Amino acid sequence: EQAPVVTIDGPGGAGKGTISGLMADRLRWHLLDSGALYRLTAQAALKHQVALDDEASLAKIAQTLDVAFPVENGQPRTLLEGDDVSRAIRTEQAGERASQVAALPSVRQALLQRQRDFCQAPGLIADGRDMGTVVFPSATLKIFLTASASERARRRHQQLQEAGVDASLSSLLKEIQARDARDTQREVAPLKPADDAITLDTTCLSIPEVVDRLTELLAQRG
Ligand code: C5P
Repeated sequence: EQAPVVTIDGPGGAGKGTISGLMADRLRWHLLDSGALYRLTAQAALKHQVALDDEASLAKIAQTLDVAFPVENGQPRTLLEGDDVSRAIRTEQAGERASQVAALPSVRQALLQRQRDFCQAPGLIADGRDMGTVVFPSATLKIFLTASASERARRRHQQLQEAGVDASLSSLLKEIQARDARDTQREVAPLKPADDAITLDTTCLSIPEVVDRLTELLAQRG
C-alpha cells in the first residue's frame, strides 16, 4: 500500500514552501522540497567547478548528491557534503542556477527515484513544479498554487526586507518573470497544472486561508 501524497506545484513565490511546511506540520507527514534538490545540484556544480551546461557531469552530480536535512534546535538545515548551505542555496542567483540545471533531462531523470523515495507512511507533502505531472502522477490530491507575478514579487520583497536585505521590487519582478518563462517553456517536465490538479490562486488569500482550504480538500478525498 502506497502512502498518500499531496502534490503542491506552481511558480516560484506562490507560497508553496510556506504552505507545504505548514501542511506537513499539521498532518505530521513527510515533506519533499524538490526545488532544494535542484538548488543543491547547482550548488555542488559550483563547488566542484562543473559548468552549468555540462549535462553528463551534472547528471552524475545529481545522482551522487550527498545531502542531509537535519533539524537542529527546531531549525531545519540543509547540508551538502557535510557543509551547511541552508542560506547559500536560497539566493536569487542560486534559484536561477537551479532553473538552468533543472532544464536538463538527464539531471531530472537522476533525481526522479530520489524524490519518490520520500513517499513514506504516514504520508508526503511534495512541493515543486512537476510533482503532480511527473514524479507522483497518482497522488491523492494535486494542487496548483498560483498568484499574480506582481503579488509574488511583492511577497518576495517583503520577505527580503524582513531579513534585512535590500532589493528593488522591479528587478524582483523581472527575475520572477524570467524564471517563470524558463520553467514553463522548457522541453522536459514544464511547469503546468496536471489535468486532475485543483488550481488555487492565492493572490487574495492569507496563508491560514490556504492551509484551511487544502485541509478541507484533503478531507474530501479521505
Ligand atoms: O522551488 P524552487 O524555487 O526552490 O526551485 C528552484 C528551481 O528548480 C525552479 O525555478 C525550477 O526551475 C526547478 N524545479 C524544477 N522542478 C521541481 C522543483 C524545482 O524544475 N520539481
